[in-house]
Formats: sequence, C-alpha cells, structure tokens
Amino acid sequence: MGEHNTDDDMSDLKADGPNSDQIEYWNGDTGDKWVDAQEKLDPVLEPAGLVVMDKVGVRPGETVIDIGCGCGATSLELAQRVGPMGRLLGVDISIPMLRRAGERAAALGLAHTAFINADASNYRFEAGAADLVFSRYGVMFFTNRVEAFANIRKGLKDDGRLGFICWQPLDKNEWVLLPRDVALRHVPAPEPMDPLAPGPFAFSDPDRVRGILGEAGFQDIAIDSHEPFMSNPGTLDEVTNFLTYFGPASRLIADADDATKKAVENEVREAIAPRHDGKGVALKAAMWIVTARA
Ligand SMILES: C[S@@+](CC[C@H](N)C(=O)[O-])C[C@H]1O[C@@H](n2cnc3c(N)ncnc32)[C@H](O)[C@@H]1O
Repeated sequence: MGEHNTDDDMSDLKADGPNSDQIEYWNGDTGDKWVDAQEKLDPVLEPAGLVVMDKVGVRPGETVIDIGCGCGATSLELAQRVGPMGRLLGVDISIPMLRRAGERAAALGLAHTAFINADASNYRFEAGAADLVFSRYGVMFFTNRVEAFANIRKGLKDDGRLGFICWQPLDKNEWVLLPRDVALRHVPAPEPMDPLAPGPFAFSDPDRVRGILGEAGFQDIAIDSHEPFMSNPGTLDEVTNFLTYFGPASRLIADADDATKKAVENEVREAIAPRHDGKGVALKAAMWIVTARA
C-alpha cells in the first residue's frame, strides 16, 4: 500500500510543504528526543491508544493508516490486530522516528506493514483504500487543517472510519501543568502564543474539531472525554527526568543555566514525591477521543 522511503532526502517536504516548520521541528532535537525516550514513552502513552482502537474497532484483514505514527508503537499494535491479511501504513514527517518504527516492524516480521516519510495533509493516499485512519496524538500539527482532513478522507473507503485521540486543554493535564508551573517560577514567562496554533493542544476545543472534520466532509462525528490518571512508571528520579524532558517545561528551561534546570528538577521531584507509590507516579490527564465516518 505504500513504499518505504524513510531514507529519502527531506528537501522536497521542506521546500514547498505547508507544514515546513513542523517538518523541521520533528526532524530536529525533538525527533531525536522521542527516539531516545521511546522505551520510556511507550508504556505511558499505550493505554490511551488502546482505548481508541477498542472504541473504533480494528478487524483482521483491514487496511489501516496510522497518521503521525512516530516511533511506531501504535502501528505495531494495529498491524498485529489486522493480521497478515490486512495492511498497515504508518505516515510521519520525522525521519528518525520513522526509522525506529521500521526497525521495530522488521524485528517483529510484520511484512504487511509499510512506513512512509510524508506530510499526511497533502500525501496522495491510495484513494478509497483504507477501512480505518487512526492517530494517537498525531493530527494536531497541521497548519492546513481542513485541507489535511479532506485529504486524509480521500484515502478512506466510502464507509471508512476515523479514530484519533488528542489532548484537552493544558490546564486539565496535570502531567504537563505541574512541571510547567514549577518552571515558570524560575524562568520568565514566554510571549503568549495562539493556544490553537499547530501543536499538542491545538485540538483542545471540541467544537473547533467538530467544525474542522465537518468542513472536511466527515460525518457521524463523536467526541468523548477521556480523563484517566496517566501512569509514569519508574523511580522518583526517573519520573522527574521524564516530566522535565518533554512538553512545555522542557521548552521553558531549554536555554536556562544548569543551576536553574537543577532547581526546577528538585521542585518537580518534591511536588511528586508524596504521590510516588513505589512503582511510579500517576498524574491526571484529559484527552478527547474523536471518531467519525468518511
Ligand atoms: C506527539 S507525536 C506522536 C507520535 C506517535 N503517534 C505516538 O503516539 O507515539 C506527533 C507525531 O506527528 C507527526 N506529524 C506531525 N505533523 C505531521 C504531518 N503533517 N504528517 C505526518 N506526521 C506528522 C510528528 O512527526 C510526530 O511523530
């Protein structure tokens, strides 16, 4: 269903694509960070992806597209669910993350799995071929949102399903709010940003998501709240490192001196210490589970 082109030069995507900033971002330090932390991230993110898969249904023999598949955790799970008679296509703009995904699929012998380095907003998907388009936190980064979803829809069969998960607002996600608030006690607040600009929280307003999907031609749009405690396994130090390694806190302290970084880590550690149960720390999270039909 698609070719493996992860070793291609990125220049075409960068030169004329609408999402060139994101292509640069996910091929720079951020992509490398996700690859380095993949083994730690997988268990933290896994439950939410499984909730979407169970809700939307993934059947043996189906053709599934995983948008923004990253290091491939969900692609591997989807490939196993559709089985060898099905097909799985992982799409991402990040070459380092796609490489990891490809290596993992090869190690598991998942021959019915392909990964492509492409911008899902304008990639020419095989028209009307997919039963399901899935994404775990991979569809909030388009600048051209309606066009992107209209393009993705073209890859679905007439009655094809869409199922993805995205974040509710930052202030409902303690796992990013807590370290961010600690960081803001040590570094100046950044210039206010458009909260709906492409990024992890761009789909936090469900009415807006409904509008985008509707304009793109999707029907039967359902948006359900999912508000679990997100488990962060590991020692207190490991969880502290994790919480300051990703998200707004990490960006706030990226250019800070070592003493400031240490102070932020110490305060995060102090804040979560009473909640460490010997195995890890569970922090409140809030996501939207979005389903629709082509
Ligand atoms: C937050 S990460 C999630 C990765 C993966 N789905 C997971 O849950 O581990 C977002 C992913 O979306 C990808 N992405 C962002 N914009 C994209 C686009 N226009 N087309 C395809 N992938 C994109 C990024 O490269 C990144 O891998």
